Amino acid sequence: MTAEDTRTFTAKNTPYILLLTSVAAFGGFLFGYDTAVIAGAIGYLQIKFNLSPLMVGWAASSAIWGCVLGAMSAGYLSDQYGRKVVLIATAILFALPAYGSAVVNDLTSFIIMRLLGGIGVGAASMLCPMYISEIAPSNIRGRLVTFYQLAIVLGINIIYVINLKISQAGDEAWNIESGWRYMLGSEVIPAALFFILLFFVPESPRWLASKSKDAEAKRILEKINGKPAAEEIYAEIAESLHDEKGSLKDLLDQKLRKPLLIGVILSLFSQITGINAVIYYAPEIFKSIGFGAESAFMQTIIIGVVNLLFTLVAIWLIDRAGRRSLLIWGVAGMVICLFATGICFYFNFKNGPWLLIFILGYIASFAVSLGPIPWVMMSEIFPTKIRGIAMSLATLVLWIGVVAITQLTPYFLKNFGGAVTFWIFMVNAVIIWIFTFKNIPETKGRTLEEIEKSW
Ligand code: GLC
Repeated sequence: MTAEDTRTFTAKNTPYILLLTSVAAFGGFLFGYDTAVIAGAIGYLQIKFNLSPLMVGWAASSAIWGCVLGAMSAGYLSDQYGRKVVLIATAILFALPAYGSAVVNDLTSFIIMRLLGGIGVGAASMLCPMYISEIAPSNIRGRLVTFYQLAIVLGINIIYVINLKISQAGDEAWNIESGWRYMLGSEVIPAALFFILLFFVPESPRWLASKSKDAEAKRILEKINGKPAAEEIYAEIAESLHDEKGSLKDLLDQKLRKPLLIGVILSLFSQITGINAVIYYAPEIFKSIGFGAESAFMQTIIIGVVNLLFTLVAIWLIDRAGRRSLLIWGVAGMVICLFATGICFYFNFKNGPWLLIFILGYIASFAVSLGPIPWVMMSEIFPTKIRGIAMSLATLVLWIGVVAITQLTPYFLKNFGGAVTFWIFMVNAVIIWIFTFKNIPETKGRTLEEIEKSW
């Protein structure tokens, strides 16, 4: 029997693994929820506080700036104090500012609350996939981390519907006074649940081992993998930790250059190929080509459903086909659909379903490739002692990409039009396709320690 066989995912540990994964993935749900809630609230906030366009920009993007800060600090903190403690802190950062942002009566307090909440989102955005990756048996690791992406998409979709329901609950005046408060405040409920659930999960065994808490690390590995496999995994972790270093300086180590480059490039291109331009601005995009507000909203919902369905396809494929093949096929699909979407804009094709079809093709291709895979790969390609700071860096770049795209998309659409905007995304997709083809190795089925040795 090979080493791989003893680590097979047996029925015995399935419920426990699923419990840990679901709790951590819940952080992804809050990430999606929190970043998308503003779309429904911003119009009412604008009237309530009489905001200039510039101020609207601040009110909408303050949370994302918080994400940048959160991603920056969570890696270091979680390497020092553990994944679980910092996750609990993020749950508090989700809950309290969500309440705060719902009850404020001036713009400055609102921006501060959203910024604080954003710190929680940014921190959770890296801690949750990292935690899942560190507890996961290697043969299903890709699938389990992709659950996190599924939760992000679910969070985005659910808040869309909640926002819609809230906005329909009263008239315009009620919405301006109170509707947006319910939208933002509603996050307190899932955030509080996340806080409570975190007390039912253990610390990451790999982090424990890196702090020489061997007995506890072994106990958790056994609970997850069963005794024989756990011993083998533990020996492998101990061996790889033996010669690992863990300071910021070590990030520049020759051996780490390649994984770092892969992590940062994947993160950046997952954003600058335009996903959130479509997700955040879909109604605007459809309206700009002449669709009415009703059908623009319907199309936004269809986009969400397709994103969700194809993330399920990714869950099914990621440990079978592997990360590399999914990236190569998925990004190729994105390139074709982005090109075709640009053509629709260029010829102002509003008749027929073509624009929607190509945008959906783009979303589906993204959902099986650049949606989940950057999260999966950045949680598995770095050595344990440095995983926190390295992932922080990659996630930081991802959030800077989100900031850039959310700020620039309205400007691009207005000044260059839809065709050029989508073709810019297409060029970026071509670049990441070439990069993947040349530089990204397959990591499916290998343990984190085997991946580490391969650099
Ligand atoms: C990925 C991206 C995130 C995006 C989401 C949409 O998680 O990182 O920015 O909103 O996919 O599916």
